Amino acid sequence: MRRPLVAGNWKLHKTIAEAVALADELKEGIADVTDVDIVVAPVFTALAAVGKALEGSSIALAGQNCYPEAKGAFTGEVSPSLLKDAGCRYVIVGHSERRRIFTESDAFINLKVKAVTAEGLNAILCVGETLEERNDEKTFDILTDQIKNGLQGISAEMMRQVIIAYEPVWAIGTGRNATPAQAQEVHCFLRRLLGEICGANTADQLRILYGGSVKADNADELLSQRDIDGALVGGASLRAADFLPIVRHRLK
Ligand code: PGA
Repeated sequence: MRRPLVAGNWKLHKTIAEAVALADELKEGIADVTDVDIVVAPVFTALAAVGKALEGSSIALAGQNCYPEAKGAFTGEVSPSLLKDAGCRYVIVGHSERRRIFTESDAFINLKVKAVTAEGLNAILCVGETLEERNDEKTFDILTDQIKNGLQGISAEMMRQVIIAYEPVWAIGTGRNATPAQAQEVHCFLRRLLGEICGANTADQLRILYGGSVKADNADELLSQRDIDGALVGGASLRAADFLPIVRHRLK
């Protein structure tokens, strides 16, 4: 019922030429894939060139971040409308690296979700607990705060443009993924929580991605879980040989 989505977050990697080369490889490698939404998020400077390279393919473009104002004196920032102008259909919002390194709050992230959806783009809202929070049995409290505050004031209608990515911080870039059971437990919790916020029907249709050390050899098991609707992939999205098998995970 929910169409799987696999997104590659290229983070701060690749020159324009390298990004275009990877886009070319992906475009060729997924030509026959029709049952998965595929998204890539290059650095801002490569967006337009990658968008051009992906023309004629089903791979969509995403920004890795945005600022929640359309224009103005905000040196160094990029707005959702400019991301749209560069060819993006998605924007990643609230990634744990932005929360931690750039001290982004739930309230600020909420403004971004609003700005992104108001522009007609899809927001991929990332949530996740740290290892310390998990060990202290605070996982569900932390996620409840991140979801409730991050989605404050978002209508059920706007929720159609929201995708949630559950990314336990301890699993990002560590090679240590959540087990399928651990991830499914959280995804199931998130879907119930989202049901309370926006109604069971909307929550049923909402895609919840798992992120954190997703690789070709664990994708099948993770993505076959009932409430896991795809993946947000970092390290393994930087090479076509690693990313394509994840896109081609065995569908449920
Ligand atoms: P990873 O990163 O796949 O390298 O763990 C995931 C992410 O940060 O989105």
